[in-house]
Amino acid sequence: MNLDFTQFIPSMPYILKGIIVTLKIVILAGILGFIFGIILSLFKISKFKVLGWIADVYTSIFRGTPLVLQLMLIYFGSPQIFGFQIEAYTAAVLSFALNSGAYISEIIRAGILAVDKGQQEAAMALGVPYRKMMWDIILPQALKNILPALMNEFITLTKESAIVTTIGVLDIMRRSYQVGAEYYSYFEPLLIAGLIYYLMVITLTFLGKAVERRMRRSD
Ligand code: ARG
Repeated sequence: MNLDFTQFIPSMPYILKGIIVTLKIVILAGILGFIFGIILSLFKISKFKVLGWIADVYTSIFRGTPLVLQLMLIYFGSPQIFGFQIEAYTAAVLSFALNSGAYISEIIRAGILAVDKGQQEAAMALGVPYRKMMWDIILPQALKNILPALMNEFITLTKESAIVTTIGVLDIMRRSYQVGAEYYSYFEPLLIAGLIYYLMVITLTFLGKAVERRMRRSD
């Protein structure tokens, strides 16, 4: 196997700039997806059956179709959906947030259901209003338990973000692919991209474990 990384050194800054692009998309989509996931999960456990039904249909559709399809539908369909063409970056954040919201809602729902029933009973017996009980008592406990699953979701999102290359976003993936095209040699730049993604995932894993440890301290 002949590998020559030296010829790609001048292209490294160009590829590395993709990290910022990828991070921006993943962080924004992650935060939006998380907020969205909380709302959907509250719908799912609501006593109003219609809300639960809406959230279930939503989850079923967004989990039941490929993310790359959702991304393309939102990007190429934006003139018909919104009345104007949105930027590729916006389409990426939007589709990832909508998709991740579906997955996160299931994670949070499971987390909420796993909190001991006695917590809710005690809160109700003390006359704590439903909203306050949810935000101050149930959700904080649920979040602690689902942290590993949430971390998993963010890792998935980081890796899946590579599909934005299909709509022309200059992320790590697309940049290394471009460099490959320039040199008529794809193997090395793709390996570099792989290493960057891997290091990002390792960092996320590490951060997740640190947060987890911190949260366990209150046990
Ligand atoms: N490749 C999968 C799909 O297209 C990944 C979906 C995204 N997964 C996630 N946990 N947000 O359906």
